Amino acid sequence: MNFEILPKTPLYSAFSDIGKRIFLPDGIFYWSGRAKNEAELIGTLGAAYGYERDFIDGGNSEWLPCYLKEVREYSELSIKEIVPYTSIGGLQETRKIWEKWLIYKSYYNENIEKELLSRLKKYIITPEITGGVTHGIFQACTLFLNPNDSIIIPNKRWGNYDNIISKFIGAKIKSFEFFRGKEINIESFKTAINKIAKTQEKIILLLNFPNNPTGYVPTKKEGDEIIKILRDSQITYNKPIIVLVDDAYEPYIFKDHVLNRSIFYDLHQLNENIIPIKLDGITKELLIYGGRIGFFTLGLKPSWVSNDEELALLKSEINNKLEGFTRATISNCNSFYQYVVHKLFFEKGMNHIVQSRDTVIKMLKKRYESINSELMKLRSPNASVDPNSGGFFIFVNLNPNKIKATEFADHLLKEYKVGIIPIEKLEENVNGIRIAYCSIDLNQIPELVRRINSALDDFEK
Ligand SMILES: Cc1ncc(COP(=O)(O)O)c(C=O)c1O
Repeated sequence: MNFEILPKTPLYSAFSDIGKRIFLPDGIFYWSGRAKNEAELIGTLGAAYGYERDFIDGGNSEWLPCYLKEVREYSELSIKEIVPYTSIGGLQETRKIWEKWLIYKSYYNENIEKELLSRLKKYIITPEITGGVTHGIFQACTLFLNPNDSIIIPNKRWGNYDNIISKFIGAKIKSFEFFRGKEINIESFKTAINKIAKTQEKIILLLNFPNNPTGYVPTKKEGDEIIKILRDSQITYNKPIIVLVDDAYEPYIFKDHVLNRSIFYDLHQLNENIIPIKLDGITKELLIYGGRIGFFTLGLKPSWVSNDEELALLKSEINNKLEGFTRATISNCNSFYQYVVHKLFFEKGMNHIVQSRDTVIKMLKKRYESINSELMKLRSPNASVDPNSGGFFIFVNLNPNKIKATEFADHLLKEYKVGIIPIEKLEENVNGIRIAYCSIDLNQIPELVRRINSALDDFEK
């Protein structure tokens, strides 16, 4: 592909070497596309096809992907929705419906926020399908981070970021202290940005709300503060800022007065070169964890193009790069679940799906309220709960001078038969336990906290 527009954008200058290099060559797609239109005998597709009657007893005369008849017993979907490959970027209809879903989730009011809505609709790429949110994060990090580049992430974060960024890519995590008391530590965030801006030609950060492991969601005021810092930094340093927005737990918000939609939307509306990438997926959002379907949606800036033709070209250039990445890593994603997602929204409707999911959200909210009120009964002066407003987890800090998180987890498991995840990163001032209350029945929460309390008492002796 000939890249005409993309190299002139600040997005391109933020790419890593891989990001600059990767693209999807025409090769097979060029020849199979031509064959579809021009050939009488097509021998381009790497998947076995035949007349059904030739490979299935009692089969008909339809030309189908060859399949094992037993596979039919496990799903009512058509065989054409189960066995074939989908295209590299994902099934077009699923991508398009997720784009609508992404717009739906903005909750922009069509009458009052017309301009915001039309900008959102116009300046995003068609979401690219990834192998779950993890693959989207991996893709985004690889596209922007060279080994030794730094990315800003809070000290309390999902551990898999470290696997991807430090161990796999060899880049560095510039960690900042997430909280000061019960609020985001804005000063620490600002200091991290200033530090990176002085040593790097791009600023890359990753935000995840509701956060894993704490369940934190910023208040609206904090959201505004984050945005102000990013704007001021972009203007001061005149370097592109890439914000990876990990929205894995997007709909699970249990409190008022916090951001009630992804921070992606506000970042997307900014004119400055603050470039948000939304990474979401069916995993937690539609409760289909093993379906392994995620979406990578990049927000564009109107100033990058001078007309609609350039905008369309830019989108196709970005999509080509993303497809090149997917092709080189996992080739393409699970087709069955792409069809399921499309059917859910197309046949049932988005309002219906939201209502159906609401039962689970309400159930989790009750657990959220219960665990928060039970944890207020913690007796130990060496344990404190982080602020939280949603997600699947809650985090209890332990005083590292008295209780090491891994020792505590071991004791809790052995003596009280309670399993939680310890996170012990003393160099980043983190020592505590993550409790996945999402997987504990409401009735068991008081007992869970009772046992944690007893285990803490053992460390006080
Ligand atoms: C913060 C966060 N992001 C991403 C993921 C991964 O999502 P997926 O299963 O879609 O790869 C998880 C899963 O635990 C997570 O906690």
